[in-house]
Amino acid sequence: MPQLAYVNGRILPLADASLHVEDRGTQFADAVYEVCAVMNGRILDWGPHLVRLRRNLAELGIIWSMADGPFGLQARRLIAANGHKDCLLYIQISRGVARRDHAFPDAAPASVVMTVRRFDFGQRVRQLGSGIKVITRPDNRWGRVDIKTTGLLGNVLAKQAAREAGAFEAWLLAGETVREGSSTNAWIVKDGRIITHPTGTSILPGIARDSLIRLATAAQMVVEERPFTLAEARDADEAFLTSTTAPILPVVAVDEHRIGKEGFRGKPGPVTARLAELVWAEVARQTGWAV
Ligand SMILES: Cc1ncc(COP(=O)(O)O)c(C=O)c1O
Repeated sequence: MPQLAYVNGRILPLADASLHVEDRGTQFADAVYEVCAVMNGRILDWGPHLVRLRRNLAELGIIWSMADGPFGLQARRLIAANGHKDCLLYIQISRGVARRDHAFPDAAPASVVMTVRRFDFGQRVRQLGSGIKVITRPDNRWGRVDIKTTGLLGNVLAKQAAREAGAFEAWLLAGETVREGSSTNAWIVKDGRIITHPTGTSILPGIARDSLIRLATAAQMVVEERPFTLAEARDADEAFLTSTTAPILPVVAVDEHRIGKEGFRGKPGPVTARLAELVWAEVARQTGWAV
């Protein structure tokens, strides 16, 4: 079956799917996006993704008139047409096509693109046993990274640096403060407290982050939303990251410095393991997905 994409209301083979060269998404990164996990054919956390998408559109003043119901149907139609049970749904909405000019065009309808890519979520469960490494890089992104725009060059360069260093992720630093990863939110655990950078303008409010806070709080665990430093991360009992494509992964080393208490140094720790149980139980509850 050929891969199919959605472009402005039409589903067509990916190879034939295209946007106009004067789409503002291409020329200015004047576009927002979402990545959703589809597991067992169901979209995880669809409601929160829609809320974030609409907030981002509103922040940028991109007008897009399709209501949630019909849009959800279009997304599900694309997923069904591709025939994948486990995949990532990519949604991108730009300010549309117009003669190149920085200021907003008067009347350009938004461009909407969706693609679907098969994804092995089982690998994320398998990685719970070993954990992953992160490096650190200065955060040189623009000042509104809470808006999920396609302007991701800072994130791209940081991720590439991680890849070249043999690490899974790059944690982005503002001075000594760890903000988040290039495509994930960053967490540490100290004395049983689960710590992550607060939302605001300097991190993306991750859907997986939000979900984890809810699950941990409901399980009577203590979550602190506050900035933490690189020194705290190095000295943490445990560390981990979250995202749609990696719902929770233990971080066992930061810049070659192994994380963890005696007996767990450089290994996944018990709090992260407990959180992983909660996260994957929630996935199963919503989607019926099992390894
Ligand atoms: C910079 C950044 N932070 C955090 C995340 C995690 O967000 P979510 O949990 O919604 O996938 C992402 C996801 O792409 C991201 O790009």
